[in-house]
Amino acid sequence: MLLELIAIALIVVHFGVPVSYYWYLRKKWLNKPWNLREDPEYRPKVTIIIPTYREAKYIIRKLDNIYQQDYPRDRLEVIVVDSASDDGTPELVKKWAKMHSNIRVILLQEPIRRGMVPALNYALKHVSKDSDIIIFTDADAFWEVDTIKKVTKYFADTSVGAVTTCIAPLNGEKHIEAIYRSYYNVVRIGESKIHSTPVHNGALVAFRKKLLNRIGNLPTYTGNDDSTPASLIAFMGYRAIQINDTIVKEPIRKDQVSRKIRRAQHLVLHFIYTKNYARKCGIYKRTLFNRIWYIELFLHIMNPWLLLIALATLIVSILMGNLISALILALGIIVTCFKQFRVWLVTQLYLMIAIVKNLWNREIMWER
Ligand code: GDD
Ligand code: MN
Repeated sequence: MLLELIAIALIVVHFGVPVSYYWYLRKKWLNKPWNLREDPEYRPKVTIIIPTYREAKYIIRKLDNIYQQDYPRDRLEVIVVDSASDDGTPELVKKWAKMHSNIRVILLQEPIRRGMVPALNYALKHVSKDSDIIIFTDADAFWEVDTIKKVTKYFADTSVGAVTTCIAPLNGEKHIEAIYRSYYNVVRIGESKIHSTPVHNGALVAFRKKLLNRIGNLPTYTGNDDSTPASLIAFMGYRAIQINDTIVKEPIRKDQVSRKIRRAQHLVLHFIYTKNYARKCGIYKRTLFNRIWYIELFLHIMNPWLLLIALATLIVSILMGNLISALILALGIIVTCFKQFRVWLVTQLYLMIAIVKNLWNREIMWER
């Protein structure tokens, strides 16, 4: 009797918290106005930084995609920072730059690979003095033609410090990744309307340069270049938002599972360390972002385990001959018919694997 009550309580908390949070954000915040001074005519100078390691397959398409942007080219600067790729990536960049002399492209080549974040820190030293906004973007992330304009218009408001976009898979609208994204995009935008979201997307993350400079170099403890600096800026009191009027596409790769686990690992490290890091740097300011932070910290680090403990409790209880527990478990198995439910379960599994795997390998530099 006691065991099944414990299991039910755990299940209610495990699903109740994220579901109520989702509905709360969706009903109360998602469609609220931004309350920001948006200026579609604002044209700050933008530096786009693309880190590359073995990106021969995508880099030309990536540069073309930036070249097609509806944004004054003399207000753009592109820095590709390559870490000793052996697949011809830097040569392709050089060739492309020669053929497109009306856009400023800088190629930086690191003699050895040290990982994405160190490469970006190196690139930050080469940003033009008059640049206002810095965008980090992956080589395999593709933007809409007006994406830069959509992003920069929010920076017209001086309270905005970081902006990221929605992302969707490039190939496979029905892929589980698409379902995952449709749920998370609502949450991220809702949080952004309140104040800021602690999870940003490396497919495109834009920063006000001044604020990025204030944090110093990008911290290397998480391995990500998106959520961590964005949250540090949110902890400073500035808005770090995910906008809803442009979508960036990224391909689903063959190694999707290991990549999802690696991203989860980075997020876990992010939630464990970033708030303290902000305190240590002396930039921490208490705002509504703090509450969002704790909910997401709970959802990323604690909540997945509740489900696992509930499952274990049910199994023990069934072994002790409890019928109701068997019924609950059977019900759980039946609901796995719903794809959304399966996506949720897989995400929880990734998070648990990520937490455990971080104990021996933090994937700060990952295989490609
Ligand atoms: N210069 C350099 N050096 N670039 C690298 C290195 C490196 O050692 N390792 C990876 N990159 C580049 C890739 O070429 C790509 O352009 C970008 O960094 C992201 O790497 P991916 O291998 O495509 O990883 P991802 O898309 O799964 O990683 C995402 O998640 C991270 C958070 O966990 C990205 O969105 C990252 O931006 C994000 O920080
Ligand atoms: Mn990528």
